[in-house]
Amino acid sequence: MLTILTIVGARPQFIKAAPVSRALRRTARELLVHTGQHYDYGMSAVFFEELALPEPDYNLGIGSGSHGKQTGEMLIAIEEVLLSERPDWVLVYGDTNSTLAGALAAVKLHIPVAHVEAGLRSFNRAMPEEHNRVLTDHAADLLFCPTPHAVDLLAREGITHGVHLTGDVMLDAFLYNTVLAEQRSTILDALGLQPQTYYLATLHRPANTDDPAQLQTLLDTLTELPLPVVLPLHPRTRQQIERHGLLPKSKIKNLKLIEPVGYLDMLLLERCARLILTDSGGVQKEAYMAGVPCITLRDETEWVETLDAGWNVLAGADPDRIRATVRDFTPPAEHPPLYGDGHAADRIAEILMARG
Ligand code: UD1
Ligand code: UDP
Repeated sequence: MLTILTIVGARPQFIKAAPVSRALRRTARELLVHTGQHYDYGMSAVFFEELALPEPDYNLGIGSGSHGKQTGEMLIAIEEVLLSERPDWVLVYGDTNSTLAGALAAVKLHIPVAHVEAGLRSFNRAMPEEHNRVLTDHAADLLFCPTPHAVDLLAREGITHGVHLTGDVMLDAFLYNTVLAEQRSTILDALGLQPQTYYLATLHRPANTDDPAQLQTLLDTLTELPLPVVLPLHPRTRQQIERHGLLPKSKIKNLKLIEPVGYLDMLLLERCARLILTDSGGVQKEAYMAGVPCITLRDETEWVETLDAGWNVLAGADPDRIRATVRDFTPPAEHPPLYGDGHAADRIAEILMARG
């Protein structure tokens, strides 16, 4: 039986891995490795519970650190696991330090690598994720692309072998869990909110959070929008706010700052929001899947098809652009399927089985 060793570590990877793990375990042996990059209950365990992800076979407990320290410690620990397990494939997701460490550890031991969410590019080399993506794609033997655009971008870099257009596993997760979210989430009541009466925001990119002045400007802009803003705070952002005292009580008026929420609560918050403002990759796509207009608080995005479709607008961290976009946003009537048919995970499992 084929042994596939899956490496995850950060919040979006638990979500992406859930449907693929379900598909793989029908016919293969999957070993799950959690690097420990995210470790708070609300950033990690809640997703294992809600998504019924199996307990990790290995929890490496690496935790936070500088890029070099974090990635280096992961590399050492993953290598040990690979040496003892000798899987047929290593499967990595997305573009975090856990992704790169997994890919690098595997290729050095001549274990083939499969990359889910291959071919994404922001063309912004100041983003740590851009290096992780490029390096992982160039190390991978199988590249599972969510969109035709991703396939094209890989071809431009000379990568054509092992490339498969599968659709996006985040759509699989979205469709499967939206029904559960409707049944189970009580987040709107808990926050005293009615659908369509608030905006939802998330912020965690270093470019928006590392510079306190920039973060302050963004928070000020959010507090002054016409509707209240629900902001589940990523721990990186919370730390910056606390360290620099960015949100005195007098300023919080229109902001509902909450802890990071579980996936089901997040899906419901997204679906019922009038508008979403975010610098997250996953949240931009989910906004599209939910049919909610999105303002991306960055100057570029990997998910360009949402811009082309007219459902996502780049506003950077510029207060005037953000305010004007909130005021004028009229999404088009058309809403074409951009991320496949919700069966990307089955395709990925089939391709891995066929390759053996
Ligand atoms: C990481 C990924 C990013 C992804 C994001 C998803 C990299 C380089 N970045 O960014 O691509 O979009 O995850 O959320 O891999 N912290 C906690 N508790 C936790 C986790 C983190 O308090 O459970 C704090 C720590 O102070 C840490 C900081 O958040 O230093 C940042 O965590 P880290 O995993 O390094 O980067 P993210 O910003 O989460
Ligand atoms: N998410 C969540 N709770 C939150 C914020 C985000 O469940 O409080 C989910 C969101 O629905 C999406 C994923 O986390 O599926 C996105 O992860 P994140 O924004 O951390 O990372 P990115 O996608 O930018 O790498």
